[in-house]
This record gives sequence, structure tokens and C-alpha cells, in this order.
Amino acid sequence: MAGKTCFMAGATSGINQQVARRFAMAGANLFVISRSEDKVSATVEELRTLGAQADGASVDVRDYDKVAKAAQKCVSLYGKIDMVLAGQAGNFLAPAAGMSANAFKSVIDIDLLGSFNVFRASVEHLNRPGASLIAITAPQATNPMPYQTHVCAAKAGVNMLVKALAMEWGPSGIRVNAISPGPIDDTEGMRRLAGDEKIAAKYKQALALRRWGSKDDIANAALFLCTPEGAYITGTIMEVDGGISLGDASSALPM
Ligand code: HXC
Ligand code: NAP
Repeated sequence: MAGKTCFMAGATSGINQQVARRFAMAGANLFVISRSEDKVSATVEELRTLGAQADGASVDVRDYDKVAKAAQKCVSLYGKIDMVLAGQAGNFLAPAAGMSANAFKSVIDIDLLGSFNVFRASVEHLNRPGASLIAITAPQATNPMPYQTHVCAAKAGVNMLVKALAMEWGPSGIRVNAISPGPIDDTEGMRRLAGDEKIAAKYKQALALRRWGSKDDIANAALFLCTPEGAYITGTIMEVDGGISLGDASSALPM
């Protein structure tokens, strides 16, 4: 990845930050955006200590003009964009009957509109053929879950956004894929969904691999999708999920 540039939304904590670290170690230049100025500057500093050229900006992905300005700044620093990550998301457990319209809208806007904004703001700056765009989706896109109506709807939209863009932009040499992580250890997502030890244990029992994944599992998948080895892959939803998409494995017959 030496000399290649990645524009990354939501890469200032958790899974996506690990993707940023992995890309930094592979030689990429990185531009990270998220809302918190403190998280952006701490991440930029860390990426620089890993030897990468890195910068960033405090941007809410729901604000298209600010995303576009950040993409422009990324290009002014490093030249054309080779890779894009739309990894930002919002999540909380909430029953649909008790949730405000604004709560539902917030998650749709962060996950779905935000991913569109990040890809749309980058497209004119992409180095093509060969550009690789990745959205981070979730099993909720295809596995309905209670108290997750907002996330299920948002991530289902992300999956279809990726597929439709892959068709529309493929002829210009742009690949668009999504990674669907299963439950990943030591993340804000799992603290919100399964913070309680008993729930976490039950969650693990339901997985074919009986364990949560690591942030590195997702970073490895992202790396693969952005290297020449992934050059013929577009429009896929890559499940890196310990088998959660197969359904509840706790009810499987013992072998
Ligand atoms: C019900 C809630 C709520 C909750 C917020 N709201 N939290 N409603 N239950 N727990 C409502 C608020 O009352 C408000 O509605 C509306 O949502 C917007 O809230 P704000 O706080 O104003 O929004 P904002 O500051 O934009 O914050 C967005 C957020 C927040 C999504 C609510 O939690 C956030 O910033 N999250 C980012 C980090 C995150 O979620 N990481 C985990 C991603 S993991 P009203 O009507 O009062 O105005 C993930 C894992 C998936 O996605 C898969 C795992 C297998
Ligand atoms: P996380 O640590 O909370 O990361 C979310 C990132 O998005 C942060 O950098 C956050 O920074 C940024 N962000 C949130 N709202 C934003 C907004 N409006 N504009 C710009 N940036 C915003 O979460 P995580 O658990 O690692 O999850 C990362 C991704 O993986 C998400 O897409 C999630 O849906 C997906 N996923 C996670 C799991 C899991 O097990 N954790 C499983 C499946 C899918 P700021 O707060 O500074 O904005």
C-alpha cells in the first residue's frame, strides 16, 4: 500500500481504528474523520508514530458539505484517493414502540446517509481503475433482531447501497464492497449490545465458532479487499462473523 491513500470515516475508535493501524503499517497515507476532535487528533498522532502520513478532521458524516471539504483536504495533502472506508455507525438497544422518530432517523442518517455521503464526496477524487471502497455493515442487515429495528433498516440499506454502487461505478474501475463483522471483542458495539456477562455468554453459544472475533479479523479482511488479490471482488458483503449469519448454532445437534 506504499503511497496509496485511504479516506476513512469513523476510524477513530474500535474496529475501524484497527483497520487504520493496519493500513498505516502497510504504508498507506491516511485521512480520518469523525465527530470528536480529541479522537481525531489522538488517532492521527498514533498513525504517525506507526510511520504513516496521516491527517484528519472533525466531521459529522451527516453533513455532506463538511465531508466533501475533508475529502478535498485529503486530496490536497496526498493526491488522489485509492481507498475509502465508511465505517461510522450509531447503535443502542431500544424497543421500536418506545423509540422517537428522531432516534430512528439518527441511526439511518449516520449509517446509511453517512455512507452515501462518504462515497459520494470521494468519487470525483478516486484513482481509477483500481479504487476500492468499503462500507462496514452488520449481521442485522439480514438477520432481524428485536430492539434493533433502526440498525436493521440502516444496515440493510448499506448492503444495497454497496451493491447498487458496485454496478454503477464498476465500469469506471471502482470496486465497492462491504464487510459484515460478527460480534467483535473489546468494542463499543458489543458493550452496547452485550455488556452483561450472561448475555455475552449466551451470544457466544449461538455462534458456530463459539467465540467473538478480534478487530484484527476485520482489519485483515479490509486489507485483502484493497490489495491486488481482491481485484476481481465487487458488490459483495463479506461476512467475517464467526458464523452468526448462519443462524443460531446453539440449537445444533452435538456431533
Ligand atoms: C432510545 C435514544 C437512545 C437510546 C439516543 N436516543 N440514545 N433513544 N434509546 N439508548 C435518541 C435521543 O433521545 C434522540 O432522540 C436521538 O436518539 C438522537 O440522540 P442524540 O444523542 O441527539 O444523537 P447523536 O448525538 O447524534 O448521537 C447518535 C447516537 C449515539 C447513535 C444516539 O449513541 C452515538 O453517537 N453513537 C456512536 C457510537 C456507537 O453507537 N458505536 C457503536 C456502533 S456498533 P430525541 O427524540 O430525544 O431527539 C454497531 C454494532 C452493530 O453498530 C452490530 C453488533 C453485532
Ligand atoms: P465505535 O468504536 O463506536 O466506532 C464508531 C466510529 O464512528 C467512531 O470513530 C465514531 O467517532 C464514529 N462516528 C459515529 N458517529 C459518527 C458521525 N455521525 N459522523 C462521523 N463519525 C461518526 O464502534 P465499533 O463497535 O468499533 O463499530 C465499528 C463499525 O463496525 C460500525 O459500522 C458497526 O456498525 C460495525 N459493527 C460492529 C460490530 C461489533 O461487534 N462492534 C459488529 C458488527 C458491525 P466519533 O464519536 O468521534 O464520531
